[in-house]
Amino acid sequence: DMGGHDTYMHKEIVEQVEAVDRVLRGRIDDRFATVHLGGLNLDPGEARRVRRIKILGCGTSYHAGQIGAQLIEELARIPADAEPASEFRYRNPVVDPDTLYVAVSQSGETYDVLAAVQELKRKGARVLGIVNVVGSAIAREADGGTYVHAGPEVCVVSTKCFTNTVVAFALLALHLGRIRDLSVADGKRIIEGLRRLPGQIDEILKTEPEIKQLAKQYADARSMLFIGRVRGYPVAREASLKLKEVSYIHAEAYPASELKHGPLALIEPAMPTVAIVPDDDLLEKNRAALEEIKARSGRILAVAHQPQEKADHTIVVPKNEDELDPILMGIPLQLFAYHTALALGRDIDKPRNLAKSVTVE
Ligand code: F6R
Repeated sequence: DMGGHDTYMHKEIVEQVEAVDRVLRGRIDDRFATVHLGGLNLDPGEARRVRRIKILGCGTSYHAGQIGAQLIEELARIPADAEPASEFRYRNPVVDPDTLYVAVSQSGETYDVLAAVQELKRKGARVLGIVNVVGSAIAREADGGTYVHAGPEVCVVSTKCFTNTVVAFALLALHLGRIRDLSVADGKRIIEGLRRLPGQIDEILKTEPEIKQLAKQYADARSMLFIGRVRGYPVAREASLKLKEVSYIHAEAYPASELKHGPLALIEPAMPTVAIVPDDDLLEKNRAALEEIKARSGRILAVAHQPQEKADHTIVVPKNEDELDPILMGIPLQLFAYHTALALGRDIDKPRNLAKSVTVE
């Protein structure tokens, strides 16, 4: 049942307001400025002994893990990184007893992620799962973890589950942070930011008519560049994946800081750039990148907290705490991918050659 929407993708994008509310519900502890994650199965002593966090997932879940790694580093000050589970499995990784492994999956059935979890467990590692489908294979194999409570996701292209997974990582990062070095004040600040998310997502969804118009203007592009820096880079990567899988327009994501080292050669009017420009300590650096692109007659669509002078168009999103901004900045670009695909007449819920869960190698 699409509840009045023309596609599941659209329904699931709109459902993000309630989905994010659901992942937060019952977990916030205002007294200690922390969150409780029931099934984590990691006591405070163990949480303090973790030296490193390695996040494994595929596709969109891998991108959610990249934002998750940054949140863990920022809030819990534990070195963390994400890697495609499929790559990890095949490179005979060094499995370290002080590393906590986190497997991320919407379906909980992705074969490469499941196989990575099984290999890690065989080697005695501790593995948590951040999974959407309750009782799925990865949820059962993991030593503990948390469900992301996005609800059923039918569209092959993941949207609401991505957002909820990132929020689940924010909760994990806050939980670990408050066991370690995150102050009460910072804990409260993040909790207040988390509580603002559903209302802010609702505000973003109200800009849909404007995004629809923009999508029509950019739908003739053969290729698009997506750029961001640090917090904005995984947002750019996910937005680029969304556009290519649903509209079939080639898209490539690059760190804005790497433009000079190659991709600037691609810039011309026929190669538009989507730039993620949060109002944080890298704002001036990001603006400099926009200038470089404009100087070469590139078209620019910015996603930012305030209109960008060098951009042809800016989608303005509400500001949250710096650490949580990535959760919001990708959402208008889900709508952008959706409306681009709609303008091009694509099969939105079932893009060619793709399956919802990849249970084969
Ligand atoms: C992209 C997409 C895929 C999945 C990937 C992992 O929109 O849906 O990239 O994210 O196949 O699937 P899960 O999360 O089920 O392990």
